[in-house]
This record gives sequence, C-alpha cells and structure tokens, in this order.
Amino acid sequence: MAVLTIVRMGHPSLARPAARIEDPTAQSQLVADMTETLAASGGIGLAAPQINVGLQLVILSVPGSRCEDGRGMALTCLINPEIEPLSQQQVDGYEACLSVPGLTGIVPRWQHIYYRAQGLDGALIEGEAKGYHARVLQHECDHLWGRLYLSRMRDLETLAFRDELLRNMAEEEA
Ligand code: NI
Repeated sequence: MAVLTIVRMGHPSLARPAARIEDPTAQSQLVADMTETLAASGGIGLAAPQINVGLQLVILSVPGSRCEDGRGMALTCLINPEIEPLSQQQVDGYEACLSVPGLTGIVPRWQHIYYRAQGLDGALIEGEAKGYHARVLQHECDHLWGRLYLSRMRDLETLAFRDELLRNMAEEEA
C-alpha cells in the first residue's frame, strides 16, 4: 500500500468526468492505496480523480455522530455510483475538500437521495441517505463528474479559511 499525492484545485483530473469501471474486482490495489491515503489525510471521503486516477470510484466513511439518525456508514467503496434526489428539498451546509485545503463554504445539497453503486466484488450496493450522509455522497460523486463544491456554492461570500472562521466563531461565543 502507499500514501498517494492528493491533487489540488487546478489539476485537470478534478475538472473532467471520470470513466466507468468495467471490472470492479480489479480495483483492490487502488482501493487499498486510497484507503491509506484517506487515513493519512484525516478526511472522510476520497474520489479517484483526487489522486489523478480518472475512474468512477470513491471511498467514504460517515461518522454516526454527524447523522440525524445516529447511523453512519463504515468505510465503503462505491464503484460507478449514481445518485437520484428523492425530494426536491435542498439544505445548506458547510463543506471542505482535501483538494481545496484550508477552505470551507456553504453548499446546497439534496436532503434525501437514493444511491446505487457496485462494490469491489461487483455486487450492487444501494440505499437511501439523508442530511449529512447524503451531503458526503453528493460531494464525493461530484468529483466523478468533474465538479468541486465551489462550483455548487450559491453565495461565494460564505467561502472562508476554516481555521479563521472557527477562531472567530469561538471568540464571538466567548
Ligand atoms: Ni472533495
């Protein structure tokens, strides 16, 4: 296994659609390397284009503490994922991205989605997700369509350096 370099905004891999994977069972080395890279980064999700691999594969884990129902998602690999909104409701929330280090901003996302993908064994993985869980899935899948969260923001004035924002929020609360 290896910790790989995460490319940052400006790299063309982040701006183009990724290709469908014909044989999910052949991706175990890629997933092992991405898992190690994600662990080293401290993030919760990573898409293959972020390590300059133009394939439709993401890994993500969703902490239960961040979910309304308390149920998160253990580290999961999704291959060729598809997402459909199950209601028209969108919700605002802060996002950050390993390819846009240091920044955070408010992004509208579908509140309730259905997702479908293949696992590393090629089997179907499907389910519904709401709230933060749905947000993480939408963020990671966006990487496969060549989109960064910045291009989903409605109000660029909410864009901030995360440490600056947190420091000033803490001072206002004190
Ligand atoms: Ni990202």
